Amino acid sequence: MSFRLFHKGSKAPGTTVPAVNLTETRGVGIRIQSLNKQFGSNHVLKELNLEIRAGETFSIIGPSGTGKSVLLKLIVRLDAPDSGQIYVDDRPLFDADGAVAHAEWFRCSMVFQSSALFNSLTVGENVGLWLRDKRICREEEIRRIVAQKLALVGLEGKEGLKSSELSGGMKKRVAIARSLAMNPDLILYDEPTAELDPVNADELANTIIALRRISKNTTVIVTHDLNFALYLSDRIAMIHDGRIVEVGTPAELKNSANPIVRNFIYTTTKGIKGS
Ligand SMILES: Nc1ncnc2c1ncn2[C@@H]1O[C@H](COP(=O)(O)OP(=O)(O)O)[C@@H](O)[C@H]1O
Ligand SMILES: [Mg+2]
Repeated sequence: MSFRLFHKGSKAPGTTVPAVNLTETRGVGIRIQSLNKQFGSNHVLKELNLEIRAGETFSIIGPSGTGKSVLLKLIVRLDAPDSGQIYVDDRPLFDADGAVAHAEWFRCSMVFQSSALFNSLTVGENVGLWLRDKRICREEEIRRIVAQKLALVGLEGKEGLKSSELSGGMKKRVAIARSLAMNPDLILYDEPTAELDPVNADELANTIIALRRISKNTTVIVTHDLNFALYLSDRIAMIHDGRIVEVGTPAELKNSANPIVRNFIYTTTKGIKGS
């Protein structure tokens, strides 16, 4: 399936940012090198190294409080590391002095754990927020993109609903549609199943898999939900005590000999055996 969001060469009236080609996404590769982050005496990320390939669906698993959200915030540049570097397509995200570098060469978007919708806005207004704010294209085009993104997450025609009226599962889907509005090259999900029941979590996993089929973007998911990660990931990394202790395919993770991984699998699935 292909979808055309913005005709090549067409000009959006009132555009205040350089023309953004919304027709194509590409996957970006991420390379994290010797990343350190601490809060006071709490050394959360310790010389963390990790590589995520362009276009893969990659999950980072680990128990609560191990630094998963902190790591995501560094990747989306909501915070800066104490030392170390994150490269996106081999270009550094942080300046030599640790400040956040401008990174216009890729689009990234995060789906927050809380969904972070504006309750006073409708579903359509939430999804169209970024496009309207950046004045990327005309209003009729924005409406078309919003409708299309809502359809992709199974919420066709729900533009008029108030966000405050939605169930947790629907809020999550609207948050995803909002993130998709910019056609991100990199989309990151923080604990996507946190407030969902198992049925909604399964549906969400299938939605993320379906989205992956129609886009080349890189998908990074942070979760403590092992089954969710095993179901939809190309590869999974486990974080423990500020470091990545294992990286592999779901099958490799399940068969890992690493006692930390085995213990995590055992305690979270009550004894799932490697196949
Ligand atoms: N802004 C902050 N200030 C102080 N401590 C923080 C901050 N953000 C995270 N932490 C601490 O960092 C650790 C990891 O947090 P977090 O990344 O949220 O864990 P999780 O793996 O559950 O997502 C926790 O001990 C948390 O208290
Ligand atoms: Mg977290």
